[in-house]
Amino acid sequence: MSYIYLYPKWIRLWHLLNGLLFIILIITGLSMQYTNKEDNIFLVGFARAVKWHNIAAILLTINYIVFVTGNVITKNFRFYKIERKNFLSDLISQFLYYSRGMFRGEKHPFPVTENRKFNPLQKFTYFMAMYVAMPLLIISGIGLMFPEITVNRFFDVSGLILTDLLHVIMGFLLSVFMLIHIYTCTLGSTPGSLFRSMLSGYHESDEH
Ligand code: HEM
Repeated sequence: MSYIYLYPKWIRLWHLLNGLLFIILIITGLSMQYTNKEDNIFLVGFARAVKWHNIAAILLTINYIVFVTGNVITKNFRFYKIERKNFLSDLISQFLYYSRGMFRGEKHPFPVTENRKFNPLQKFTYFMAMYVAMPLLIISGIGLMFPEITVNRFFDVSGLILTDLLHVIMGFLLSVFMLIHIYTCTLGSTPGSLFRSMLSGYHESDEH
């Protein structure tokens, strides 16, 4: 078994807070969506949900700024850089490993090294989640929190409805991402090894 230090303290703290805030946002978001006017309370009810959704969203935004700043000023961003060369074939190799190879006991096609923290599928989904979906989620959330700054109408459709739609779609996609993410995090050298890495900072590998 070999150990590579890949998750510095700031990433572990960011990630812990990000995960906790996400869970609060999902519970409160669903409560707002499904609590109806007849006061049929779903999960935590409407008023409490609005309050805690706003608080968690502000903290998530600050935490997101920490994530982006940390990635810019440390070398962590290099792990997210997607190479255009062999982009599709690498994605397919990783997908085939997850869907077939690992059940046949084949070796990881892209084992973790000091210079490769993520496999191509992780790289792509983490990039899309952190640099496409999160900004859209945050910007649309700010638009809903301050409706006076949101575009009034867009091609004759209410700007607020479009902002809301974008926010709900991003929230849904990121929630699905989180579920698949948790599942793929069980596919390390042992089911618990990647979760331990996110606590200790060290990636455990038996391929070296
Ligand atoms: C509470 C549920 C979550 C659990 C249990 C969890 C678990 C993990 C684990 C074990 C890792 C390390 C393995 C790896 O590098 O792939 C990881 C990394 C990561 N997770 Fe999560 N995660 C959760 C929620 C989230 C959410 C909601 C997001 C984003 C919206 C997210 C984004 C990331 C990113 C970007 C990394 C790589 C960080 C880096 O090293 O630069 N995670 N997660």
